[in-house]
Formats: sequence, structure tokens, C-alpha cells
Amino acid sequence: MSRITAINIRNYKNSGNKFAMVTAYDYTSARLAEAANLPILLVGDSLGMVVMGYESTIPVTMDDMVRHTQMVVRGSKKAHIVSDLPFMTYQESPSIALHNAGRLIQEAGAQSVKMEGGENIAEAISNIASNGIPVMGHLGLTPQYVNALTGYQLQAKTQATASALINDALAVEAAGAYAVVLELIPKDLANIITSKLSIPTIGIGAGPECDGQVQVFHDILGLYSDFVPKHTKQYCDLRSVAIAALEEYSSEVSDGIFPSSNNSFSMPPSEIPVD
Ligand code: KIV
Repeated sequence: MSRITAINIRNYKNSGNKFAMVTAYDYTSARLAEAANLPILLVGDSLGMVVMGYESTIPVTMDDMVRHTQMVVRGSKKAHIVSDLPFMTYQESPSIALHNAGRLIQEAGAQSVKMEGGENIAEAISNIASNGIPVMGHLGLTPQYVNALTGYQLQAKTQATASALINDALAVEAAGAYAVVLELIPKDLANIITSKLSIPTIGIGAGPECDGQVQVFHDILGLYSDFVPKHTKQYCDLRSVAIAALEEYSSEVSDGIFPSSNNSFSMPPSEIPVD
């Protein structure tokens, strides 16, 4: 079975159907997302927070992304796998950016890479895309720039910053990106960008009119309780289900209920060693 390609995703723009992308960080999350027929799995550097327990995505390394992308690739057959280039792996120079993008494709098995930034990284996007590696852009709230922002807040709220964001979106498209994530921006601005671009916009906290939506796996399944952003929706509360199951397991062990004979193995009496 062949995987969904960046060209397929680009063509979703004119299909009239909105599409969903979800993050996946390992074999099991990829298996679950693929069983639910999600067409695009993002190995997001948000794994730094939800899987590795860091406070931001800044400490995530190339080796982390390669390792987790490999897990997601092994857990899926049909979905398109897009993998984040982490902080400082593409900003230094277009050739370093190409080298690292190449690792995610060749070593890890992703089909495309995602990069945060606009005009400032246009040359890097262009170098990667023109060498046969599809690039997804990421604008608005760009968590890798958190130290230069005032926090994880709504971006581009003024006319000047909104106009700058539109220019960044056009620059990302002109550099050769096949889609762009718009994170935490007013929906009115997302609508303008969506209508100006010929590539799909994928929103997270950017309103319903984007061509697609992306959400963090742990947020929509209710697995991550440290912080629940307004832009997410918990479709279930797996954390409570998991805690209740773990508590039951622990008390059944204390009470001698688990393991039962159903969970145990016997040997023929003749084989039981005599003391
Ligand atoms: O790393 C990530 O999970 C992301 C999404 C929030 C778009 O970049």
C-alpha cells in the first residue's frame, strides 16, 4: 500500500473536503491514528513536552526526531508522515537545513518535513524543496521562537503584524512549501491567508475556515493535563480511564485477585521438581 503524498495533500485544497492531521510520536499512537484513518501524521517536536517532559520544544534534538519518526513510520502504512525539523537544525544555513531534512527522510522514513518561520527561512525551504523533499511551513505561534515571544499566546492581533504574517505566508508558498500550519492566529486573518494561498492551510487555533486542522494527540484524547489549550477539544478523557485502570490493577495485586488462574500457567504434575 502506498502512502499519501505531499502532492495528494496539496490537492486537498481544491477538493472541497477539509482534512485532519494529528500528531503521533511512537508506534502505538501511529497505529491508533491510522486505525482511525487519519491521512497525515505529524511527528511534532511537541513530543519534547508531552512525551519527554521538557517545558518547551527547544531541547528537542535531531536524534530525538529521527528516533520518534522511525517509530511512527513502523506504526503506519498509508498515512503521510511529516516530521518536524527541531530548533536550530535549519536556521544556520540552507545547506545544514538540507542535510537535516535529508536525515528525516532517509534515516527516519518521513515523507516530508515541517519548519517554523516565514521570510527568514525562505532560502532554507527553497533549498530543501528544490532537492525533492516536500516542506510544510508553520506560521503564527511558532513554539521554537518562544524565547522571543511573550509566551504561548494569540499572534498577529494588529494590522501591522497581520500584514507581516500574510507576507510570510506568501514567502513560504513562493519558496516551495506544499502546505502551511497556521497556529493561534485570529480566524479572520486565517481566512485571508487561506484565500490568498494556492497551498492548503492547516489550522490549530486558527478557526474553522482553514483547509485542514491539526491537533496534538494527547490534547484531544485527554492524556495531558499539565495545560489544556483553548483551541483544543477533548474528545475523551483517557487520563481518567488510565488512572482508574492502574488503581484497579494495583489494588487487585494487593488483594491477591490478580493474577488469577486465567493469567497463570501450569506444568504437568509429573514435571514439577520435587524438593
Ligand atoms: O509540534 C507540534 O505538535 C506542532 C503542532 C502543534 C502543529 O507543530
